[in-house]
Amino acid sequence: MTKGWTKSDWRAKPRVQMPDYPDTAALNSVEAQLAKYPPLVFAGEARKLKKQLALAGEGKAFLLQGGDCAESFAEFSADNIRDTFRVMLQMAVVLTYGAKVPVIKVGRMAGQFAKPRSAGTEIIGGVEYPSYRGDIINGFEATVDSRRPDPQRMLQAYTQAAASLNLLRAFSTGGFADIHRVHSWTLGFAEHDKAERYREISNRISDALDFMSAAGINSDSAPSLATVDFYTSHESLLLEYEEALCRVDSITGQNVAGSGHMIWIGDRTRQPDGAHVEFARGVLNPIGLKCGPTTTADDLKVLMAKLNPANEAGRLTLIARFGAGKVGENLPRLIKAVQEEGANVVWSCDPMHGNTIKAASGYKTRPFESVLREVREFFQIHKAEGTIPAGVHFEMTGQDVTECTGGLRAVTDENLSDRYHTACDPRLNASQSLELAFLVSEELSAQRDSDRRIAL
Ligand code: PEP
Ligand code: CO
Repeated sequence: MTKGWTKSDWRAKPRVQMPDYPDTAALNSVEAQLAKYPPLVFAGEARKLKKQLALAGEGKAFLLQGGDCAESFAEFSADNIRDTFRVMLQMAVVLTYGAKVPVIKVGRMAGQFAKPRSAGTEIIGGVEYPSYRGDIINGFEATVDSRRPDPQRMLQAYTQAAASLNLLRAFSTGGFADIHRVHSWTLGFAEHDKAERYREISNRISDALDFMSAAGINSDSAPSLATVDFYTSHESLLLEYEEALCRVDSITGQNVAGSGHMIWIGDRTRQPDGAHVEFARGVLNPIGLKCGPTTTADDLKVLMAKLNPANEAGRLTLIARFGAGKVGENLPRLIKAVQEEGANVVWSCDPMHGNTIKAASGYKTRPFESVLREVREFFQIHKAEGTIPAGVHFEMTGQDVTECTGGLRAVTDENLSDRYHTACDPRLNASQSLELAFLVSEELSAQRDSDRRIAL
């Protein structure tokens, strides 16, 4: 229990990236309503995820965190949820093969609605509007009305998150996630002309499954082959919403964020004395902390002490997001800060947020090559430092969108306008996501082989 902490203490701290609601009475009424609703997740689940993340920190598991940049009300459908879930499962199987350890699956789903923005306003068609801050806050449509922060949106976000989580829980245990089924989808991907390089891993997974089946290990005899643990996560940005869903765990008396299993603090809201750090420090959930080029070693030390004073393994995941070509100049100094403090952390790599560029066509995009390059740099630095690359964090969708360029079914600058649907940042599409999983899997295999050689 964080002594003396209450869920509303953040209100006395400097806040950034949060809306000023014009109608306080309406805001208070929504908060009161949400405070009576059931939480979306339970403390025992958050604790279980924390235990699994502790294993990732030791190299005994690997974290795959992924999903939308911003979930939207308009794109909400069973098919969208199913398709993102499906591609994450495929990625997890491929990564399990490379890492030879369990892959922890955490969706940026069922709650990822609020967005930090680089500017308070944006110019659209020559007119200046308040920036879009995610569907939980205001509307994407460029009108003065739609851009006004509306607290009612929190209720819709809650309902959508609850329905999404309900479906994800059903998919996780109801047969959809059976490993044989998941792998059969991947075989389809590997049949693509240009996917030759991935066919070998895919065939080896088939062989492993055939062997197990011949040995009597199948989904009937080993139900764990037919189900998965799937967790949810989002940026803890809109603190009125987070506070309203904060609950006391009846078993331990600790506070738990009931809005999702894992919450993270963004690169723009990680001020050590700010409101976002204040809220996160008091809840028992696993916490992610984005680390960017402007994260100083001193700030990181203060943040680690605040967010994980007991140095609990699995509590804190540091999500590095520097940009391709910039990992070498940033990650070693932060690794050093962690080592100087003797801190337990889980290092994960977000190769998306440091690699956003504007294409000639005007669309925000991310080149697949830069994404891959940042992941490789992340692995190389950890190898050189003797530390553990414990996970990856992607913005991705199961849909066949054209938002990031590159990949084997190459999306070009000219294609971006074809199916550009994101409400915020460009996401990897299903094929790019799976391809990336194969490439990361190769990195993990190579690392394992070299560790093994050193051990021999
Ligand atoms: C995000 O993860 O969507 C995000 C805004 O990231 P960051 O805080 O790292 O910029
Ligand atoms: Co984003």
